[in-house]
Amino acid sequence: MANKAPLRITVIGTGYLGATHAAAMAELGFEVLGLDISPEKIALLERGETPMYEPGLDELLRRHVAGHPDSSGRLRFTTSYEEVGEFGDVHFICVNTPQKHGEYACDMSYVDSAIDALAVHLKRRALVVGKSTVPVGSAQRLAVRLAELAPAGQEAELAWNPEFLREGFAVKDTLHPDRVVVGVRSESAEKTLREVYATPLAEGSPFIVTDFPTAELVKTSANSFLATKISFINAMAEVCEAADGDVVKLAEAIGHDDRIGKKFLRSGIGFGGGCLPKDIRAFMARAGELGASEALTFLREVDSINMRRRAHMVELTREAVGGTLLGTRIGVLGATFKPDSDDVRDSPALNVAGQLHLQGAQVTVYDPKGMDNARAIFPTLRYAPSAHEAARGADVLLHLTEWREFQELDPAALGEVVAVRRVLDGRNTLDPAMWRKENWHFRALGRPTA
Ligand code: UGA
Repeated sequence: MANKAPLRITVIGTGYLGATHAAAMAELGFEVLGLDISPEKIALLERGETPMYEPGLDELLRRHVAGHPDSSGRLRFTTSYEEVGEFGDVHFICVNTPQKHGEYACDMSYVDSAIDALAVHLKRRALVVGKSTVPVGSAQRLAVRLAELAPAGQEAELAWNPEFLREGFAVKDTLHPDRVVVGVRSESAEKTLREVYATPLAEGSPFIVTDFPTAELVKTSANSFLATKISFINAMAEVCEAADGDVVKLAEAIGHDDRIGKKFLRSGIGFGGGCLPKDIRAFMARAGELGASEALTFLREVDSINMRRRAHMVELTREAVGGTLLGTRIGVLGATFKPDSDDVRDSPALNVAGQLHLQGAQVTVYDPKGMDNARAIFPTLRYAPSAHEAARGADVLLHLTEWREFQELDPAALGEVVAVRRVLDGRNTLDPAMWRKENWHFRALGRPTA
């Protein structure tokens, strides 16, 4: 249609995914209204700030949030579903789907309430687009619910468009996605989504059009594959430990085969965060409900290999300090689940630090960005303002999150403050030669002799 007004977009749920998506949509030229049920979060976003650390996101917000000097003014926020319903042509659902307490399944209550709250305000044609990671079959169920509750009836249509952004690269992954996957039931839904993603599609991002269940499955299977790749190399690390091999060399060597590839083949204390662990569990739970649990029993193994890494790190530490942790002083570098993030959800680093502490060690943690979040969930650990302070007086120093800052540490200077020059690399990113040159006893997980 010529001279048609540009689409107006709303984003429901302004956490990691939603805040980034809202800012990215404004960057792509759309008028955007973001909604969150938390007025505190909205107030923060209106100031151009985010509750999390994500490189480039605050700048992107400030470039578009109405009221900021030189901003495009295309991005606004609200807590009112009524306003959202009136404003938008396309509504993105970006609320979270955490693991249910005490179960593997994921908690759909935020998605369900978002759909219910929005639907009753949809009085004209609108496309509701789910981005949250959900169990396969949810979109089918939600589409029915939407049409039932919306005054616009069938004119309120659902589509599913999973999100693949990585924390730490959220802005880049959203503006330049490596693929756009849409589960749609009509040509008009596909056309609308092509319009939304016109810029990345013009840049060459592949656009994959499919049905609801496949779109939902693309997300969970991608995360399962990534988790499996990490657990594969960590299983090889266990074998290397037993056979005096070197898992870093092994990964390098097999990674040259481009069918295998080097990426996501870093061995260490394993994967964590708000996505991979809960997604593989929810996937197993859903497969069970569908009568396909056998297909995913391997994910149980992927999960246990991963959880064993944390225990191995604790054991390696115990061995390093002579068999008992009681009363030993341990410096820990890293608390977040990965670098360039302040996220400590299911963080292997913090989990290891916590286990050591609970077994009687005095643990002092330093992380460049994750200190506040770590302190909030693990207040009984000690926290130091720098790597040097965490290392002061330590009998052993643990490297548990691979921040660049830690690779650049000076082992000579650090050697002056520790009680014993002993370092354990749980992420395989420190250079053993550099540390040994300064008379450190260096040991890395999966490389007993390296
Ligand atoms: C992950 C996926 O990578 C994204 O594609 C997906 O969109 C996102 O989950 C999601 O479901 O929303 P993220 O949780 O940000 O993204 O983190 P990853 O970069 O995947 O890292 C996960 C964990 O694996 C981290 O703890 C990291 O340290 C660990 N990891 C990663 C390894 O142990 N080895 C590797 O080689 C790579």
